[in-house]
Amino acid sequence: MAALNLTKQLLMWYDRNRRILPWREDPTPYHVWVSEIMLQQTRVEAVREYYDRFLHYLPNIRALAEADPDFLLKLWQGLGYYSRARHLQEAARIVCEQYGGVLPQTAEALQKLPGIGLYTAGAISSIAFGKPEIAPDGNAYRIFARLTRDEGFIEDGNTKKRLESGMREALDQKRPGAFNQALMDLGSLICLAHGKPLCEQCPLFFECEAGQNDVAEAYPHRRPKKSRRLEEKTVLLLERNGQVLLKRQPAKGLLAGMWLFPMLEGKKSPEAVTAALREHGFSNFVASDLQPLGSAKHIFSHIEWHMTGYRLVLDGKAEVASKMPEPWCVFESDKDYDAAAFAWAAPEEMAERYAIPSAHQMYLIES
Ligand code: ADE
Repeated sequence: MAALNLTKQLLMWYDRNRRILPWREDPTPYHVWVSEIMLQQTRVEAVREYYDRFLHYLPNIRALAEADPDFLLKLWQGLGYYSRARHLQEAARIVCEQYGGVLPQTAEALQKLPGIGLYTAGAISSIAFGKPEIAPDGNAYRIFARLTRDEGFIEDGNTKKRLESGMREALDQKRPGAFNQALMDLGSLICLAHGKPLCEQCPLFFECEAGQNDVAEAYPHRRPKKSRRLEEKTVLLLERNGQVLLKRQPAKGLLAGMWLFPMLEGKKSPEAVTAALREHGFSNFVASDLQPLGSAKHIFSHIEWHMTGYRLVLDGKAEVASKMPEPWCVFESDKDYDAAAFAWAAPEEMAERYAIPSAHQMYLIES
């Protein structure tokens, strides 16, 4: 691989074809940082609307550090991988305390902050500060695995290191941010991860071992994936005077701090739901009052929820349990929150105040 020629071709292509993206228009360190965290595991198109709204409410590092954590989760609602939001705020607080509110410039210092790994540190350092650092994301690894026809498994540390040294060799010292973003755009537009890559349009075709041999799609090699764990859940929409019962997730673990409708483990019949509700103080209704809401599926990285749902309107019923004994839900009550683990919420509060993850959006629309 002739690195110089490759770098030149790549940057020429980028200057003509680069995507116009909001965080590229005004790449302050804070803007680049927020965008890179949002773009971890999330598509550019999905991030656009979140990015603008986030900056509207939290325009600088100090505002982020001081934001109400629940408001922050609300801003993140629907983006997924919610620990990113928590880490972002933890890092903002550290930047305020240790760096006077100014983001450090080196990849080494950036990597010490919560939520910032090798890739994100390289991206911020190169794009916002012009430092000669690589930003090895999935796109960059895939492109270099194809360029060099690397036979290693992409999940292996040694393979990654080998590909990273190819990236360092090719990195443009004067325009490292453009180089890294060119790889991101090439990976999204030409050197596709899914489906046939568009080798005939690729500026690096003549440098590419896999492309030249018409085998690009076979690279990088991947280890077979472990299958996800399937979990059946029964989602309960319990309504009372126009309010719906919500249950808060513990501060650690899946969907930490988010609000969900209460759930029972397993796929329950109306009779089983009735029995469970009776145990928790809801009486004065019969199984036929439960309205089936249909099923929904939600995929997390390692777990798949297969849900079925019921709605129960308790209006006009004499008694409504006001205090839920534990354990009520699938999940333990949360000792880390001062706020109650349960809340009766009106629709406008669910829209404005409670962060409800996509996993339950289907039932939210029904309510
Ligand atoms: N994906 C991650 N970071 C990106 C960026 N800066 N531009 C485009 N896509 C990205």
